[in-house]
Amino acid sequence: MDNRSIGVFDSGLGGLTCVSELLKVLPDENIVYFGDTGRVPYGSRSEETIIKYVRGDMNFLMSHDIKLIVAACGTASTVALPVLAGECKVPAIGVVEPAVDAAVSATRNGRIGIIGTAGTIANGKYGKLIAERNPSLQTFAKACPLFVPLVENGLTDHEITRLTCEMYLEEIKEKGIDTLILGCTHYPMLKNVIGKFLGDNVTLIDPGYETAHYVHKFLKEADLLSDGGIRENHRYYVSDTVDGFEKMASLFMNRDIGGQVEKIDIEKY
Ligand code: DGL
Repeated sequence: MDNRSIGVFDSGLGGLTCVSELLKVLPDENIVYFGDTGRVPYGSRSEETIIKYVRGDMNFLMSHDIKLIVAACGTASTVALPVLAGECKVPAIGVVEPAVDAAVSATRNGRIGIIGTAGTIANGKYGKLIAERNPSLQTFAKACPLFVPLVENGLTDHEITRLTCEMYLEEIKEKGIDTLILGCTHYPMLKNVIGKFLGDNVTLIDPGYETAHYVHKFLKEADLLSDGGIRENHRYYVSDTVDGFEKMASLFMNRDIGGQVEKIDIEKY
């Protein structure tokens, strides 16, 4: 039993898709969330910059009383976590392995699509892990750099988003995939648009959902679950203005987080 919080971070709003699922699967846990809204997006930056930003994000979370870090960001999980997990004093879990495991068990025709930020797709970790699990599976990867700004600007159900989706995903659709890994935690917020474009026969893998279940299993097996004796006290931190984040986050998570968001200076960490 361990009543310390779970630290979760992302470059912005995307990690909230994981937080929403964590709150469902682990209602007794407290969350400390950091969204690096002042420096989003991460996905188009160099490896060096992403690692520098993620190190700061993890140091900030470590300044709280936490038992685990969840990198609720595909870019951080692929590019930075392999370098930084060893520096961390608590276990650090990323979104890649849970999403890969789910995709490998979901596919029926062995054709899996992977979409993510430019950094994630260039890194190739999703594809490598799928090949390790089952070398006969075929993967088709595509970077979708405009999806993150569309989500951050609340355009989750807009004509521009539908056109962008068509532009990015036509090529992957033509490959006859039956499973698509939404390899960036912002993308589940576009599930409706993506799902409509690809049709019902394509299973969408949500990394936030899969990771929340993975975290539950991990905490249970390590005997680190909270005993539920503490009052709900989730905290959200951002590196840019609170207002916009509070509104968008409440909308995306379907719960009012007004008054729980604070701005911090991430450069200090
Ligand atoms: N949600 C992130 C990811 O999963 C962030 C993308 C970005 O900041 O570019 O990759």
